[in-house]
Amino acid sequence: MTQAKPYDAAQDFMPINGTDYVELYVSNAKQAAHYYKSAFGFQSLAYAGLETGLKDRESYVVIQDKIRLVLTSPLKSGTDIGRHIDQHGDGVKVIALWVDDAVAAYTAAMERGATSYFEPYTESDEKGKVVRSGIYTYGEVVHIFVERKEYNGVFLPGFRAWSTPDYNPEPVGLMYVDHMVGNVELGQMNHWVEFYEKVMGFTQILSFDDKDISTEYTALMSKVMSNGNGRIKFPINEPAAGKKKSQVEEYLDFYEGAGVQHIAVATSNILETVTALRSRGVEFLQVPSSYYDTLLERVGTIDEDIEALRPLGILVDRDDEGYLLQIFTRTVQSRPTMFFEIIQRKGARSFGKGNFKALFEALEREQELRGTL
Ligand code: FE2
Repeated sequence: MTQAKPYDAAQDFMPINGTDYVELYVSNAKQAAHYYKSAFGFQSLAYAGLETGLKDRESYVVIQDKIRLVLTSPLKSGTDIGRHIDQHGDGVKVIALWVDDAVAAYTAAMERGATSYFEPYTESDEKGKVVRSGIYTYGEVVHIFVERKEYNGVFLPGFRAWSTPDYNPEPVGLMYVDHMVGNVELGQMNHWVEFYEKVMGFTQILSFDDKDISTEYTALMSKVMSNGNGRIKFPINEPAAGKKKSQVEEYLDFYEGAGVQHIAVATSNILETVTALRSRGVEFLQVPSSYYDTLLERVGTIDEDIEALRPLGILVDRDDEGYLLQIFTRTVQSRPTMFFEIIQRKGARSFGKGNFKALFEALEREQELRGTL
């Protein structure tokens, strides 16, 4: 692992305030919204579809603290959304970034070589106006810049409030998107690292090679890109040669291309959050109980009781600045592609390198069961 440059080295010509929303194209948005409410504690927020004048698609928006998920399905055949789902299964289409100036962000990105998804345009309703613009990143994923300083509606113009008075499961303590990881094809990692550096002014804060991230069977390489204020962090993975098929290759095979591998969401109390998620049926990767036998030797003193972490399967890692607790869900759709990470940071700004081996061995056990190792 190398700590390449400090955060503030990014030449921040594109100030980003945070993740605005994440949009997934899914085969059944109505049922997906129910799942994210029931299992993950999201709350009903907004809706757009036939009732709001859309003819070919509908979207449900759910929210938990600062995290907004948009779940979109086509309402007829032959749409681009339907084609996306046919190729990739359910997955992330849009990582939307909250900016103060969506025209300036788009202009800066285009001048530096971005591919346009759409030019800046303004939408408005009685609650004000929103300016959005979009560029492509890896695979078919896009970044949409969202400028909403003159808007105080529930989500975006075109959406109406969605309330469900009879069914609102409690939130589980998820607060914000900590990072989002992209899996790209063999040999493409550096291309996308350069894209985030050149086009978006991000800086590489960490890198891992196959010596850091390998088990007996599989390996991967990863570089972590961050924007200037550290609110947006995108690790980019590519497969590395191993004896058997790596988890990144399995993803690329089933997703049929590059895409978002996991969304890491932060909590301030991982014990409570994971207890709640488990009770609602969210499934997690399980490391062997022996992981905990040597944990304190590796990470030193921590605030949490190891015996509380063990049955939940929560992992711990330490870096120079502090420690972090993390756990990974199993994949959340039929294809073995995207999953979630739940993370609680106590000073550490890294990504759990000390857990990679235990974690990848757990992943390989799952791959073995699928016959794809
Ligand atoms: Fe992660």
